[in-house]
Amino acid sequence: MATSNNGSLAVELRNVDKAFYGVKANDNVTFELARGEVHALLGENGAGKSTLCSILAGLYRPDAGEMRFEGEPVTFKSPKDALAAGVGMVYQHFRLVSNLTVAENLALGHPDMGIRIDQKKLSRAATELGDKYGLPVDPTARIWQLSVGEQQRVEILKLLYRNAKILILDEPTAVLTPQEGQALFKTMRQMAGEGRSVIFVSHKLDEVKQVSDRVTVLRNGKTVGGVATEDAEPKDLARMMVGRDLELPTRDASGEPGRVVLGIHDLHVKSDRGLPAVQGISIDVHGGEVVGIAGVSGNGQRELAQGIVGLRPTDKGTVEIDGEDVTSASVLDRIQKGCAYVPQSRLGMGLAPGLTTEENLALKAFRRPPYSRGRALVASAFKDEGARQIEQYDIRGVRPGLPIRLLSGGNLQKALLAREVELEPKVMLLRSPTRGLDVGATEVVRNLVLSERDRGTGVLLISEDLDELMALSDRLLVIYEGEIVGEMPTEEASAERLGLLMAGQRDGSET
Ligand SMILES: Nc1ncnc2c1ncn2[C@@H]1O[C@H](COP(=O)(O)OP(=O)(O)O)[C@@H](O)[C@H]1O
Ligand SMILES: [Mg+2]
Repeated sequence: MATSNNGSLAVELRNVDKAFYGVKANDNVTFELARGEVHALLGENGAGKSTLCSILAGLYRPDAGEMRFEGEPVTFKSPKDALAAGVGMVYQHFRLVSNLTVAENLALGHPDMGIRIDQKKLSRAATELGDKYGLPVDPTARIWQLSVGEQQRVEILKLLYRNAKILILDEPTAVLTPQEGQALFKTMRQMAGEGRSVIFVSHKLDEVKQVSDRVTVLRNGKTVGGVATEDAEPKDLARMMVGRDLELPTRDASGEPGRVVLGIHDLHVKSDRGLPAVQGISIDVHGGEVVGIAGVSGNGQRELAQGIVGLRPTDKGTVEIDGEDVTSASVLDRIQKGCAYVPQSRLGMGLAPGLTTEENLALKAFRRPPYSRGRALVASAFKDEGARQIEQYDIRGVRPGLPIRLLSGGNLQKALLAREVELEPKVMLLRSPTRGLDVGATEVVRNLVLSERDRGTGVLLISEDLDELMALSDRLLVIYEGEIVGEMPTEEASAERLGLLMAGQRDGSET
């Protein structure tokens, strides 16, 4: 194995500590990076991954411990220092100068660059490197004109232009489409093939399995272990990451579905630009079932959801909640009739960012007991109910007076779901509920959805994530250009079949 041979070690950290205001972000961390490998750094949010990377890249200085670079002890005083030694990092928040061109950004901080910048030479270098590593980008474009994926390529090109031997990529796939992610993995493998080392930070097991040679897992600032990727089962990695056995719940065959709790008939809804976005959709959701709607984003999902909950006017057709026509009812009316909604943007539409977690949990329920008695609000209920729900739904990171927007994505989503579930809805409309969540939070959210279903709620799950859809849905529909183009029981669904339908190919098995 690569690590048994010290000659091939590129970087070694021994017993490294780093604390922020008394909180240990890295606690006695040990990490060994070999030459020519893609080494994944896996851990939940807050595990200490970015801190470890920032120490390697010279941004932070460790409080204690030792760092060796190609066998020699080193201290990097700054990122510039680290880069001069060959260690470079692409941060989660890019550090490009947005009104300069790609070529100019390449030159920034380069020791050979004088006052005069040779644009032509730089552009040529950017193009050549881009071609070689599969990182295409227009060298004359200004950064602000580029997509996030392209900006990330510029960050990587910058490191390659400086001939970095160790490239640290902090959660690079978080901002990429699946296709861009696959292209990046190819680039990573290519760089490793040349003898460079790549540190790939992620909390996604499938990505780690796909691209890395070895994995180091961090939990609560500590290294839990390092293993060869091929020897690691995903469920073992998940256990190392969260510290307990973790079965991502999937539904078991449903009981008898109940009556129709959400009835949508021939619904037509327009987009913001006034174009037809939902074009004659009919769906019945029964109590006690999860109906999944798969589709590529932008095929009418947003307009469908907003039309159902009353946030957007509908042109034609009807919406019924528990048998009652609510087509022209207000949002509030629909909530009171039992329609819960968990939107895609947690802070935009769902929660009040400046209020505390307790206040947000009470936001929809404060007019009823235990929050109010008669016309009076019961102050203690906010605290007691808040504490109970925070415990019950495993919402972490809450501190007195802390605005909810400072919680992590997973905890925001748990709070949002808790608030809706507490109202005991008849219908729950969910948009991509586990998007961007780590495995621990995903488990909590999936369990919540399934226990709501088992309680008898009818769930309509609109998502772009096929894993999520297959794990939770009893039935699957596919939306394409505002129409339902296919329907099947989940047992009969496959990624291939769904993918074809999502791309607009009508189902061959249907006539
Ligand atoms: N600059 C900082 N100031 C204060 N606390 C920080 C800072 N950076 C990280 N932390 C804390 O250190 C812990 C680890 O954070 P981080 O390394 O960013 O984790 P990860 O990248 O795995 O999500 C977290 O509790 C985080 O709040
Ligand atoms: Mg991080």
